[in-house]
Amino acid sequence: MVARKSLQSTEKLLKEHSQSQLLAFWDDIGPDQRRDLLGWIEGLSWADIDYWVADLVKKAPAPDIPAGLDPPPFYPAKPHDEPQRAKYAQAVEVGTELISAGKVAAFVVAGGQGTRLGFPGPKGDLPISPLKNKTLFQIFAEQIRAVCERFRAVCPWYVMTSPLNHDQTTEIFRENHYYGLDSGDVFLFQQGTLPNFDFEGRILLEKKDEIACSPDGHGGSLKALYESGAIDDMQRRGVEYISYWQVDNPLINIFDPLFIGLHVLDKAQMSSKTIEKSGPFEKVGNFCIADGKLNVIEYSDLPDELAEKRNPDGSLVFKLGSIAIHIINRTFVEKLNEKGFALPIHRAVKKIPYIDAQGNSIKPEKPNGIKLETFVFDALPLASTSIILETIRSEEFAPTKNATGIDSVETTKQMMIDRAADWLESAGLEIPRKADDSPDCIIEIAPGFALWKEDVPAKLDKIPPIKPGDKIYLA
Ligand code: UD1
Repeated sequence: MVARKSLQSTEKLLKEHSQSQLLAFWDDIGPDQRRDLLGWIEGLSWADIDYWVADLVKKAPAPDIPAGLDPPPFYPAKPHDEPQRAKYAQAVEVGTELISAGKVAAFVVAGGQGTRLGFPGPKGDLPISPLKNKTLFQIFAEQIRAVCERFRAVCPWYVMTSPLNHDQTTEIFRENHYYGLDSGDVFLFQQGTLPNFDFEGRILLEKKDEIACSPDGHGGSLKALYESGAIDDMQRRGVEYISYWQVDNPLINIFDPLFIGLHVLDKAQMSSKTIEKSGPFEKVGNFCIADGKLNVIEYSDLPDELAEKRNPDGSLVFKLGSIAIHIINRTFVEKLNEKGFALPIHRAVKKIPYIDAQGNSIKPEKPNGIKLETFVFDALPLASTSIILETIRSEEFAPTKNATGIDSVETTKQMMIDRAADWLESAGLEIPRKADDSPDCIIEIAPGFALWKEDVPAKLDKIPPIKPGDKIYLA
């Protein structure tokens, strides 16, 4: 039985916030469902809801673009001069020591589904490697395992899921025996959610006893790491640095000694990798300095005249694209949570399944409401110091976002083949190529064979000559 008082106070609360529709089916649901529904309602962030409705849901706020944006300084992919070369060499030493000492953890945000890809499940379970069809999760796990073996270290892996896919993801890890990792070193936890609204600001019901909610964005990771106990776990293990990446990028170099080392030498709290954008409107975030603070401005928010602004030599002024790869200090996450913080909330117009006033389940064919989310890069201006390290797109960034075309399964697979071919060619091997210069063969390199390009020369005796049309798996 749900206490009468609790029901009455909930009715009052909902009335005050014009959300009484959430109890519209009270008479149709049983005692357990009633208790759950009240629990859902109590768990909502009521202090914020009126503000969200007024400022984010009923209207689309103009993007908050600060005046006087400047491009930020960054470390180039290759050092420019002797002092920089010396610093990079020192950084590699520092990074290597920290990885070997188990002070760096892997952290992937994997709360998203493969919806845009037409893949029915957690995106991390998407098969992607060009020959063996390894999934994204398997590729990451093999890389972590290879790093642990190489550095004789324990490198724990934190995986953020969402209520959309947590149970399924946990099951996938179990079925795959944690891909050869020690299950005690893999920590899966869920991010939070935010309610979904219709355009009039009413919170939608997904079922008669369930509020329509969606994951709170990858920015939710900074709270979820703390609230799930992952940060405590890191502290117990002596982990100081968190290597953050997105589940859609199989080319990620999870433990990069140079990146970690530069971050630490410059006493940074949260750092980022960048690539030079392919053009003014590439769909990546843009690194900018505003009021002395580093910011990422999403491609959709950067005004065209800034996106297209050029230097006298013709290069883009805002050329640094965010590839969602960061090093974050564990203590930074702790401090944010201990003193309380809120990242800005962004709105997205979406198709949201819901229950209509008659109790029918509706799957809308066009957008019918607003989802809210936070972005992890909005924590950059909260960091006292940040560095940006440039990397090479073909080495480290092949996001799998769409079913076809740009950033699709097909382009990602091709980039995996291209990178493998480049690694072998750099070591002096001949790669057959087609008229358009793409490799006339399929090559897949397992992380256990080579973690980086520099590993290949020592393995040349294990690589057969490659003929046109060959399929070569190196493990
Ligand atoms: C994102 C970045 C963009 C960056 C690009 C690089 C945003 C808003 N933009 O674009 O700046 O240049 O990636 O590839 O993020 N995720 C969660 N929980 C959530 C939402 C997302 O874990 O609640 C994860 C997804 O699983 C995915 C990643 O975050 O791994 C990115 O989300 P997605 O929505 O695909 O971002 P993009 O718009 O592609």
